[in-house]
Amino acid sequence: MMRNSGRVLDKADAERARLLEQCELHRMEAELLFDRIGVDVGWRALDLGCGPPGVLDILAERVGTAGSVVGLDRERRVLELAAPSLAGQCLCNVELVPGEATATGLPGASFDLVHERLMLVDLPRPEDVVAEMVRLTRPGGYVALQDMDVISWTCEPAHPAWNLLQGALVAGLAGDPHIGRRLPALLRSAGLADIEVDVHAGLSQPGEPAHALLLRCATTNRHRILAAEELGESELDGYLRELEEHLARPDTIVLGWTLFQAWGRKPLTA
Ligand SMILES: C[S@@+](CC[C@H](N)C(=O)[O-])C[C@H]1O[C@@H](n2cnc3c(N)ncnc32)[C@H](O)[C@@H]1O
Repeated sequence: MMRNSGRVLDKADAERARLLEQCELHRMEAELLFDRIGVDVGWRALDLGCGPPGVLDILAERVGTAGSVVGLDRERRVLELAAPSLAGQCLCNVELVPGEATATGLPGASFDLVHERLMLVDLPRPEDVVAEMVRLTRPGGYVALQDMDVISWTCEPAHPAWNLLQGALVAGLAGDPHIGRRLPALLRSAGLADIEVDVHAGLSQPGEPAHALLLRCATTNRHRILAAEELGESELDGYLRELEEHLARPDTIVLGWTLFQAWGRKPLTA
């Protein structure tokens, strides 16, 4: 296991800053979700595909030092990025664990809450992760999913570079870009009870972090877009430039993807 040691990776500072900005986009929705579930002092929570640091800081503050939070991610590099920001906030009740979300190796029925955000959208068999989440949750505990549905993700006025880059990004996903709407059914099929669902979609204008999300995602996933061989390097760079210019125009607005939240309880008796 890799503890939150506070080790700083200087060369990763810029990337960490970008990822932290991304986490801020859905912070309010996460707070609302954990309010509705009633995440409380003393809880033991697990975040699968935690990212750097995803919702770990929010959970850590809520459960306090009487509780604990485990963040699991299959990318060690991601955990190395998460560690310094958690240490910087003195969140010593967080443990970072490298692992695979479908087979965590963690003890069953040992968490009050098992959560994921924006991981299922990139997985071909999301039901395998949900089954592992249910196994890890104690009877009466909660499984919570937050994932996207690209149905609403548009810019106005429309622009060919937007359509092209969004299409290339979505085509490169290993999972369902409309997974959000399927979350309640995934929980129901996994045997959970008291299922609730909510949705959020935000509007952004030039200068706001959410406004450039497609640009950032396309840049980060450049290797995937090029691997699909629909676009060459110079074409991709051209579209990125065109989109940047379009998004900077004062009249361009962006409606973000729809973030679905679904949560339910593991029955007390099987
Ligand atoms: C889009 S990021 C979301 C990060 C974070 N949950 C958030 O909302 O900010 C998806 C994360 O899931 C991790 N991931 C993807 N598939 C995984 C798997 N099968 N097991 C564990 N982690 C996985 C990736 O490494 C990445 O850090």
